[in-house]
Amino acid sequence: MDKRREIKTIGVLTSGGDAPGMNAAVRAVTRAAIHHGLQVYGVMYGYHGLISGEIRPLTSSDVSGIMHQGGTILKTARSEEFRTTEGRAAAYQNLVKYGIDALVVIGGDGSFSGASAFSKEYDIPTVGIPGTIDNDISGTEYTLGYDTAMNTVIEAVDKIKDTASSHGRIFFIEVMGREAGLLALSTGIACGAEAIIIPESDEGYKDLEKFLAHYKEKKSSGIVMIAEGDKAGGALKLAERVNSEYPELDVRVSILGHMQRGGNPSGIDRVVATQMGVAAVDALLDDQKSIMIGLVNNKITHVPFNKTVKANRSIDQNLFDIQKVLNKWY
Ligand code: F6P
Repeated sequence: MDKRREIKTIGVLTSGGDAPGMNAAVRAVTRAAIHHGLQVYGVMYGYHGLISGEIRPLTSSDVSGIMHQGGTILKTARSEEFRTTEGRAAAYQNLVKYGIDALVVIGGDGSFSGASAFSKEYDIPTVGIPGTIDNDISGTEYTLGYDTAMNTVIEAVDKIKDTASSHGRIFFIEVMGREAGLLALSTGIACGAEAIIIPESDEGYKDLEKFLAHYKEKKSSGIVMIAEGDKAGGALKLAERVNSEYPELDVRVSILGHMQRGGNPSGIDRVVATQMGVAAVDALLDDQKSIMIGLVNNKITHVPFNKTVKANRSIDQNLFDIQKVLNKWY
């Protein structure tokens, strides 16, 4: 028997946008908890299920064969009700009903701010695992799903490049990320984009102007990567603006959308999800509360919830500098 254990029963849920690797994390949490002699409940539909009582026991075999699946077997939701004190009170009643004395929440910063409020109000030890394709959470260099989403975007853009170069067209490609531009920046680098437009920097607009001037002369095709949260209002708006300024250019728009959230998790997402899942259970057994499991310099860290919420990671300027060195039209 594990000496550290005071907790007997944990609940695990996935919340916010799904991300590849969430299932691998659910599997790791469940099996690590069972290994330490704990009982595990899966909460369906995130905080929504906590409030409505959609809660079921999870055994080792329940999480068998899910590691490679995208999405989340626990389903997910964005719960407005959990933002209210009444919603959290109903959620607490369900924890009492099922004897759940600690929670693992897999999700983004919005999910952690809910977890933080709940954990404070009801003294429920709660540990978060960062899961979002946006990779926009402070205190961790990695969030589950980011690597898979990056590869999904790259695969799509590689295909678009074939048609772009055949027609000599410019494609404006919109990538997800909410207010964060890291997914657009990294995939822009990986796809050799001519300009990368993200909310955190104005440099992409200058690159775009330079590229358009170059394109008018040479008519070579081009890829402009745009983060959905950019200041111009996304790929459609930016392409419209460019079209009205340069009607002679052959411009097309491709909004990749939710396909970026799906698919089998990459090797990195499976391994990190497994590390984080095991670390989350360890943290609870070590009496940690209100923390997120992070990954910094490839090492597991514990980050207090108040350091993870509402603060986006800053963008690596070095990636922009690299982009300039490599662009052929400078
Ligand atoms: O946070 C993940 C994410 O996919 C963002 O990149 C995107 O802005 C948002 O979720 C979309 O949310 P929904 O699926 O609720 O439309």
